[in-house]
Amino acid sequence: MRPKAIQIPKRQPKGISPLKPENGIKPKGGLGTPSLAQQPVRRPSPKSGPPPQPPKPPRSLPPIFLTGSAIAVLIFSTYGSYLYASYKKAIEDSKKLSVSNDVADRYHKTAPTFDADVDTTEWMMSLGKRRKEIVQRARGDVLEVSCGTGRNMEYYAPGEKLGAGKKGKAEFRGCRSITFVDLSGEMVEIAREKFEKKFPDFKKAVFLVQDAAKDPIPPPPPPPGETAPTFAARQQQPAKYDTIIQTMGLCSHADPVGLLTYLGQDLLEPSRGEILLLEHGRSHYSWVNKLLDDLAPAHADRHGCWWNRDIGEIVRQSGLEVVEEKRLHLGTTWMFVLRRKREGGEEGKGAEGSGVVLSRWLGWGSKD
Ligand SMILES: C[S@@+](CC[C@H](N)C(=O)[O-])C[C@H]1O[C@@H](n2cnc3c(N)ncnc32)[C@H](O)[C@@H]1O
Repeated sequence: MRPKAIQIPKRQPKGISPLKPENGIKPKGGLGTPSLAQQPVRRPSPKSGPPPQPPKPPRSLPPIFLTGSAIAVLIFSTYGSYLYASYKKAIEDSKKLSVSNDVADRYHKTAPTFDADVDTTEWMMSLGKRRKEIVQRARGDVLEVSCGTGRNMEYYAPGEKLGAGKKGKAEFRGCRSITFVDLSGEMVEIAREKFEKKFPDFKKAVFLVQDAAKDPIPPPPPPPGETAPTFAARQQQPAKYDTIIQTMGLCSHADPVGLLTYLGQDLLEPSRGEILLLEHGRSHYSWVNKLLDDLAPAHADRHGCWWNRDIGEIVRQSGLEVVEEKRLHLGTTWMFVLRRKREGGEEGKGAEGSGVVLSRWLGWGSKD
């Protein structure tokens, strides 16, 4: 049987649109749907504007930009590698150092440049605001331990005044006396100069050069007009400080727990006295702590400060009661209001009943 011939459709000659009927012959369409040839041919209307432009090739960046970027990447990567290598080397060097716990003697040397060295860092961290918060809370007979170059000086309100408080009750404000203590005579001299310049008329400021933890700190100066017998009685039972301030000091002391315990037990007025701390130390974050730990020996050796101390643990070991606590800057800045633990756990209420409310019981940053 011969196979049936298969009919191969003739190819459309090039150039003839399949949509156009050829030679006037209309192509047959299917039911309902018009065939392609029957569909109206859409031609661009002459009014619709110029024909669309062919797509533009992507713009290439100017060679100067590419060269500049390449140079910048090179500089950054070189600098990054340099920093990393320096950091690694600093850690290695730091670990090799054997540094004593007692590094306080460094401040004799660094005193002249201390303010200039810390100014920028403190400005970037807004530490002035924190110092102000702490110091504005001070009242009565005030002791500032590890006073350094007197970076808190400008926030003091020397001179105690009795005025009307928020609720109409009488309220003591300001400092009756201020005693500044530091181990470094060089630091104390700078602090004294600042104080005398700022408060030339206040005569109840005392400046002591001594070890705050080992040598007994004398009681606050007697109130004005106090007679000799009373003064003698005070020597028997020394007066205490209403407020004890320390800022950035626990990092430099050889025995920070011993210092806090001594301040709380021997020098702080037991019923309403407060210890106000602004300190720096360990962070909330382990990666920051690793950095602090790795570089601590070198930093302590150079600056006289152990920056990786656990301030919370030091406070806990001192046995003082935490009235308020605040942490800032990834947890490395610690602020505390402490007082002596009371028997019976009575919470601080100021001097209610006596008609006198002490402004220090107001919250952080209160302007009242
Ligand atoms: C980091 S400085 C802080 C100074 C200042 N309080 C401030 O906020 O800028 C630490 C200070 O603690 C002092 N210091 C260290 N050990 C001390 C001690 N055992 N008795 C008294 N002062 C001490 C140092 O002399 C130094 O001035």
